[in-house]
Amino acid sequence: MSEDSVVSTKFRVLELFAELNDFELDSIEQWICSRSYKKELETKKLMQISERCLVKIGETIKEIVPFEAEMPSETIIPPTVGDQADCNTVNTCHVDEFLYDQDEVVDLVKVGKLKKHYCLDCNSRNVQELTLISHSMSRQSLQYIFKVLLPSDLEDKQILDVGSRLGAVLYGAYYFSNAGTIVGIEMNKEFCDVQNRIISQYSLDNNRIKVINSDVLERSDVVQSADVIIINVLDFFVDIEKHKEMWRFFKKYIKKGSYLVCNRSMADTLSYLDMSEESLNWISICRPSQLENEIFFDIEDCSELFLYTVN
Ligand SMILES: C[S@@+](CC[C@H](N)C(=O)[O-])C[C@H]1O[C@@H](n2cnc3c(N)ncnc32)[C@H](O)[C@@H]1O
Repeated sequence: MSEDSVVSTKFRVLELFAELNDFELDSIEQWICSRSYKKELETKKLMQISERCLVKIGETIKEIVPFEAEMPSETIIPPTVGDQADCNTVNTCHVDEFLYDQDEVVDLVKVGKLKKHYCLDCNSRNVQELTLISHSMSRQSLQYIFKVLLPSDLEDKQILDVGSRLGAVLYGAYYFSNAGTIVGIEMNKEFCDVQNRIISQYSLDNNRIKVINSDVLERSDVVQSADVIIINVLDFFVDIEKHKEMWRFFKKYIKKGSYLVCNRSMADTLSYLDMSEESLNWISICRPSQLENEIFFDIEDCSELFLYTVN
């Protein structure tokens, strides 16, 4: 590090310190003086190494899927209920968070590859911001799931991602956890091909990670044998009736003691589907298992992730 960059780092540190009150400043001073931050720095560097593996995989996927990461063979329909019911094909655009993080989105907007606004009233400045949605989880969310929410030791556990799409959750489980078995189930064949291509190109251990091309409703056996089930919001992919059927199916087949991870609260999901009463008693919300690792995350970015146990 040059002298200039030391000065500029001190500038940035002082900027941060200037925002703290006396108590907060004392706590930070104690933390640095105790030198425990050194151990945390080591952990952070290890996490960055794992994250770089996901970045590389993302770069490969960008070359093999369309820019929007949606396939011609898919039927994607904006939902009619829930917190995304205001999305439609005019005001909404898909930018996959696993492939493009926030900094990359800013760059895409700068070079004009991505538009952030749409015109409400042609030829005028009366524009509206587009809603950007992602069908995949971000690298940040994946790290939070495996480094904060779930227990650190998953060696003898089976993880199941329902609707594994590009495989983001599978690669996250592979690099951020020691999970013994990682299974993705995806109804779209083109996406299964993408996942299998990545597994083979990156020589991921076939005994540890696998993809099943099926409707999850046909594979109660796979759901029954999972210890951790991860479900990203399915609203754009199934109609209300099928969505309800899926939650009844999960309630029936997910075994007691399993973990369920969702990126929207179950209370919200089930109330949007008008099925709260019949369904909420089978799960309990859980505290994160590795709270000591929260230090590595911007908690606000991860506040939409929920961990439950099945009663
Ligand atoms: C929101 S994406 C989730 C992607 C991935 N789990 C992640 O978080 O990065 C939902 C995926 O579920 C798939 N899907 C929806 N219903 C399904 C079903 N009944 N069986 C299998 N896959 C399904 C869709 O094709 C879509 O790719």
